[in-house]
Amino acid sequence: MAGDWIRTVTAQTPTNIAVIKYWGKRDENLILPVNDSISVTLDPAHLCTTTTVAVSPGFDQDRMWLNGKEISLSGGRYQNCLREIRARAAEVEDKERGIKIAKDDWQKLHVHIASYNNFPTAAGLASSAAGFACLVFALAKLMNAKEDHSQLSAIARQGSGSACRSLYGGFVKWIMGKEENGSDSLAVQLVDEKHWDDLVIIIAVVSSRQKETSSTTGMRDTVETSLLLQHRAKEVVPKRVVKMEDAIQKHDFASFAQLTCADSNQFHAVCLDTCPPIFYMNDTSHRIISCVEKWNRSEETPQVAYTFDAGPNAVLIARNRKTAALLLQRLLYFFPPSSDTDMSSYVLGDKSILKDAG
Ligand code: ADP
Ligand code: DP6
Ligand code: CO
Repeated sequence: MAGDWIRTVTAQTPTNIAVIKYWGKRDENLILPVNDSISVTLDPAHLCTTTTVAVSPGFDQDRMWLNGKEISLSGGRYQNCLREIRARAAEVEDKERGIKIAKDDWQKLHVHIASYNNFPTAAGLASSAAGFACLVFALAKLMNAKEDHSQLSAIARQGSGSACRSLYGGFVKWIMGKEENGSDSLAVQLVDEKHWDDLVIIIAVVSSRQKETSSTTGMRDTVETSLLLQHRAKEVVPKRVVKMEDAIQKHDFASFAQLTCADSNQFHAVCLDTCPPIFYMNDTSHRIISCVEKWNRSEETPQVAYTFDAGPNAVLIARNRKTAALLLQRLLYFFPPSSDTDMSSYVLGDKSILKDAG
């Protein structure tokens, strides 16, 4: 490995939005959830993380830049991901450039990581999901760790829980698992992105500002103080997950929309039941909910599902393209994006598969 060289790998990973939410850990270090969750992976063309990882004998420590600003890698989550991938690193031989890295060299070599999110970071659009999934994927390629998506997903989970679902496209389920060591807490693809390609996702970026309470801190407070969470995790979500899987398999939009909206609302109710209460949605978020509810009630069957992660931004899922066009028309009329209103912009989400730009 002697010499003056640098090897880089770039990967791109989409974010995912949960339709049955993960909120609450039973193990903080391994990131094991209190309930199963289901998400849809978005199109990387619109919302994704791009991460470049580099290795060189000239680097004297691991360093990372997020959206151009250096961040500390000392947190357990980054260390967990780096350690797990390093443990699986294999020999790399780049004959063209005369680079040979032996398996053991990876324990001594340092990496530099530059990551960029093409959508707001820490604003409730799951930047941690795309971010950690991309980091793990890029590091695995760099270090020639020949793990399959399932194992990489389990490592990404140790960076951010929601990240384990971003390694797959389409609809994805994170099975909470039972084992104490987390070996059975993993994501599986329920259906691929082609299964229900009528659906169109529009994201209303109400605010791109960083949230006051991170998902990690918020869910920790909820686990410690909310009684409603116990009921949700044990009684409500297990039944909802079964119904949601069925709705997805059968393309049953009415049931899908009812479950998605109800789960988003219960997640925010659980946030309100936390001490001190957490308010992720704002007035504009509430007005969007009222607008969609009113529309759905005026039709024979629901046209649009809404869901809000840990932030004020709305993820709206229209049953088909025609509805999506009407939805956008209504949104632009009632919530025009401008500096005078509380709406920042609209992004087309769409469903997609993982793209590897490495
Ligand atoms: P979000 O709703 O955006 O997922 P979280 O509070 O869950 O917000 O997580 C935000 C944190 O995720 C950031 O402060 C940062 O530590 C991490 N993160 C975001 N983007 C990336 C990225 N591209 N690579 C690595 N970590 C990231
Ligand atoms: C509301 O995965 O960001 O988006 O595991 O602490 O990193 P950590 O939390 P994170 O939580 C996501 C919460 C959510 C719902 C979801 O994505 O399922
Ligand atoms: Co997150």
